[in-house]
Amino acid sequence: MKKVAIFPGTFDPITKGHQEIIEKGLELFDKVIILVAKSPTKNSSLTKNLRLEILNEVYKQNNKVECVYWDGLIVDFARKNKVNFILRGLRSSIDFEHEYQMATMNNHLDKEVQTVFMITSAKNYFVSSSLVREIYNHGGDISDFVSEEVYQKLDELKKG
Ligand code: COA
Repeated sequence: MKKVAIFPGTFDPITKGHQEIIEKGLELFDKVIILVAKSPTKNSSLTKNLRLEILNEVYKQNNKVECVYWDGLIVDFARKNKVNFILRGLRSSIDFEHEYQMATMNNHLDKEVQTVFMITSAKNYFVSSSLVREIYNHGGDISDFVSEEVYQKLDELKKG
């Protein structure tokens, strides 16, 4: 049976930090489903269609990655699609508290669902989507933090 993991997030936009976790996840799993999900605390800056378009562009050559939008609970998607693993990245102890809470809650909601954590490397330790957005909105260079495909898409967006 294929081992599949869900990698949920808002991906506003996807960064090299996220991509690193997906690459590491693919060493363990046969397939990773990138789930563009809703966060109760965030108002996304890029539309869901654009975030999905960017993800599909980044992973168009990789048949082990699927990109999907989901409006509900992650565990409901997991149950519906018979997926038992959630993949998440950890950057620091600050991430840990929040991640521990989410992983435990998701497991409480569905006992079949386990969260697997991958450690983010030092080069992506300080990267976050909101910082990338801030730099982009001020006309700064985001090429160190996002892949070429993401850079191009955001550049096109800026030029209108
Ligand atoms: N390297 C660098 N940065 C990383 C990273 C990595 N490996 N992993 C995450 N980040 C950054 C992201 O860019 C993001 O930055 P931002 O806060 O500036 O936007 C931040 O860390 C965390 O983002 P992410 O991991 O993508 O989570 P999120 O807050 O965007 O998404 C959901 C949270 C969507 C996963 C969560 O709200 C959820 O599960 N929603 C669905 C509803 C649900 O099931 N709720 C019950 C949860 S128990």
